Amino acid sequence: RQAERGGYPHFMLKEIMEQPDVWSDCLLGRIQGDRVVPEQIGLTPEYLQRVKHIQIIAAGTAYHAGLIGKSLIESLARIPVNVDVASEFRYAHPVMEPDTMVIAISQSGETADTLACLRLARELGHFTFSITNTVGSTAARESDAVAYTLAGPEIAVASTKAYTTQILVLTLIALALADIHGHPRPDLVRGLLQLPLLGHQVLDVMEPVKDMAERLASGHDVFYIGRGRDYALAMEGQLKIKEISYLHAEAYPAGELKHGTLALIEENTPVVVIMTERDVADKTVSNILEVKARGAEVWGIVDSSLPVGLPIDHRIDVAVDLPELSPVLAAIPLQLLAYYTAVARGEDVDQPRNLAKSVTVE
Ligand code: G6P
Repeated sequence: RQAERGGYPHFMLKEIMEQPDVWSDCLLGRIQGDRVVPEQIGLTPEYLQRVKHIQIIAAGTAYHAGLIGKSLIESLARIPVNVDVASEFRYAHPVMEPDTMVIAISQSGETADTLACLRLARELGHFTFSITNTVGSTAARESDAVAYTLAGPEIAVASTKAYTTQILVLTLIALALADIHGHPRPDLVRGLLQLPLLGHQVLDVMEPVKDMAERLASGHDVFYIGRGRDYALAMEGQLKIKEISYLHAEAYPAGELKHGTLALIEENTPVVVIMTERDVADKTVSNILEVKARGAEVWGIVDSSLPVGLPIDHRIDVAVDLPELSPVLAAIPLQLLAYYTAVARGEDVDQPRNLAKSVTVE
């Protein structure tokens, strides 16, 4: 097993560390010059031209990738997107416009609720598309089209590399749609190819995350806040830490804290703030001041171009060149934070209690 783990103590750490290389594999052949090649993600330009609405369905971590996908598709291609948790969608009597493309995201391609949604969408006559890591999985076989995340086998129950490659595939879809619907972004297409290099750079400066984990490990809860895509990342950060370290964690949209959850912030409560969206950074700063006024200890996972002197206690910089491409980079410190916290608490990182890698029953 040690050999299978490539010398790492846990599969989860191996899978976190191999992400930059996995991203290269995921992007390989899917970009030509300044454009995404739709056929390489299972779609045709003719079909993309017809898409008017998108419905994303997924569970767990894949749902959190879907939230980032919504933000990217809406902001880049200006096509409306709904994202729903599969176990809710299947019983919600969903209303979908004609020309809605239904996207199922599933690492395993076998999650029972997600498959039920795919079947429902087909019955309703919609075009179904799966983003999955598992070649030949039920989701892949039962969809009209499929894009593989090509992350290689993911063994740890807590998803890491499957999540970031789901985000990459969603980014490719957003850019292909943007191009075809008249909003090309060649800068972002080229920027994608820089991500593996930037990923290695982020991994090289993650030492401070260990201190943060030591601090969290001895506490009993932690809050994650952000705005926009940073809020979606916050949701994934809190899920990751719950799954493997069993700490109580909550994610909140930074501006929504004051409507209730702020009541839980006390002297020394740890708060992790994610700030990679420059245009709302100053808004988030005012939310940081709100928690600091109640005594919170604040860690920032921060776009390195933001000014020094932010009102945070501990700063972890992520070099964000293009904010739209930053989620996969900012995911790394969140994954490592969960990992080191679980290690510090002596938990079984790869096989957390009560959880299964793939939930094939309802
Ligand atoms: C399980 C796993 C999660 C995963 C979710 C969805 O709950 O423990 O890590 O995110 O299923 O799995 P899927 O294979 O559909 O992405």
